[in-house]
Amino acid sequence: TMVREYKFEVNYIFKSVDCVDHLVIGINGQFPGPTIRAEVGDTLHIEVTNNLSTEGTSIHWHGIRQYGTPWADGTVSVSQCAINPGETFHYKFKVDKAGTYFYHGHYGLQRTGGLYGSLIVDLPKGQKEPFHYDDEFNLLFSDWWHKSIQEQDVGLNSPIESFRWVYEPQSILINGRGQFGCSLGANFINHSLPVCHFKGDEDCAPYILSVLPNKTYRLRIASSTSLLSLNLAISNHTMVVVEADGNYVEPFTVDKIDIYSGESYSILVTTDQNPNQNYWISVGHRDFNTSTTQALTLLNYQNMSDSILPSFPPPVTPPWYDVEQRMLFTKKILALKGTPRPPKYSQRRIVLLGNQDLFNGYIRWFMNGISLSFPPTPYLGSIKFNLKNAFDWRAPPETYFPQDYDIYDPPKNFNSTMGNRVYKFQFNQAVDVILQNANSYIPNTTSFHPWHLHGHDFWVLGYGEGKFKDGDEKLFNLKNPPLKNTVVVFPYGWTALRFRADNPGVWSFHCHVEPHLYMGMGVVFAEGVQYVKGIPEQALACGLTGNMLMNKKTHY
Ligand code: C2O
Ligand code: CU
Repeated sequence: TMVREYKFEVNYIFKSVDCVDHLVIGINGQFPGPTIRAEVGDTLHIEVTNNLSTEGTSIHWHGIRQYGTPWADGTVSVSQCAINPGETFHYKFKVDKAGTYFYHGHYGLQRTGGLYGSLIVDLPKGQKEPFHYDDEFNLLFSDWWHKSIQEQDVGLNSPIESFRWVYEPQSILINGRGQFGCSLGANFINHSLPVCHFKGDEDCAPYILSVLPNKTYRLRIASSTSLLSLNLAISNHTMVVVEADGNYVEPFTVDKIDIYSGESYSILVTTDQNPNQNYWISVGHRDFNTSTTQALTLLNYQNMSDSILPSFPPPVTPPWYDVEQRMLFTKKILALKGTPRPPKYSQRRIVLLGNQDLFNGYIRWFMNGISLSFPPTPYLGSIKFNLKNAFDWRAPPETYFPQDYDIYDPPKNFNSTMGNRVYKFQFNQAVDVILQNANSYIPNTTSFHPWHLHGHDFWVLGYGEGKFKDGDEKLFNLKNPPLKNTVVVFPYGWTALRFRADNPGVWSFHCHVEPHLYMGMGVVFAEGVQYVKGIPEQALACGLTGNMLMNKKTHY
């Protein structure tokens, strides 16, 4: 094992990520940011310098649990103060589990603005994965708007009369590359778009996967989308799913895969098809009422030129309303034998109902009636140092009221508030969380919400339709539930998960749809904060912890 050092400079750059010139947040002048690659047991030391001229920033290492280093989780208002323009923050943490991860900005809408990159952790040399492959590719998916994040921010934060939803992204990007205004598959799918022509060195030329026949490739895929739920298919090739969110799963074969924001997978693809042609790789979305064109690239058998397009149409994304197929896919994800089992019982159950409502004329998302608004002092410091005025210390509700709440036809304006309370767990407690979906503010509309937990993997115990009720825990899968860090909640349904509160720190748990979190769809968990040691001053140098540090100095 070793210490791997990286220097990241975050700044805005001009780049035609989808063939339209635009500002994007880059790292070291690159977009997406550099891929971090390490081995299990390594320590990463990443020096992040904020070169944005007027915005703070931070970087979250999505899927890395940060045992012993909760201050390095990169979440502004939770684990650290924003890194001010011109400042450098030193992230130092261990990677303890092999897998496919990514990193991204965790302040405001900076992830939407392009602040992300891949993070891959390999097994130590000499150790073998429980599956075989000859070579690998890494694919990071995202969605891209021509509307700036400042415009999106103001639109989302305006009173209902002037509220502007972000609507649909202009493009889906594969490794930061998309095509707006043309399509590689235009001859088959969209007669109003011209076919794209590339020399290959353009910023927006597709990332092509060149392969040899009769080999097995591991495709690592992760989705950093701000909004879209994606679906990946490769013409004529099936895929074997072997990893999800950095955990091995019981291998299963599919011809398409759903991937929600915050999820990552590894799939095996065997190049056993006719090597005298190329094949489509298609990444479409599964969102309601959205016309964003699918992203296309090629699986290129190397004896063919990579400029020869297939003579058949690309795979089509299943429609958004096909919830059944989405559930079928999701339920196939089960832990590989040998994966740690969940605790048999939980000591605490929190039911979290997510709904959309108006508060003081603003449209927001609420969890059990509270819409999360982050406090100016990061929780980790304010809990550690017992700063009573830093946030609302009252316990948030364990379930929703009234209990006869109709998820299909929710009451309007029922006592919703804004807040910043924290769910505190006894250290090592086994906790169950039931996420309950409901109708949105507009009648007969609902969304998919991919929920992500910081600091932990959790076991996904089950999904159900309608409202979770007493007795439904009998349906929980305690035998081989998958370990994940992000899980989808289906429309008008519930998702149950279990984890052990064994990681000292403060952890956010939120919907990974960026505008949903921005509109309050999240909660904060804390456990064992008394055991946290060595929070660097820089993580505390703002708000009330900032004052505390200054007073300490004047006393010397
Ligand atoms: Cu990838 Cu808190 O998110
Ligand atoms: Cu959501």
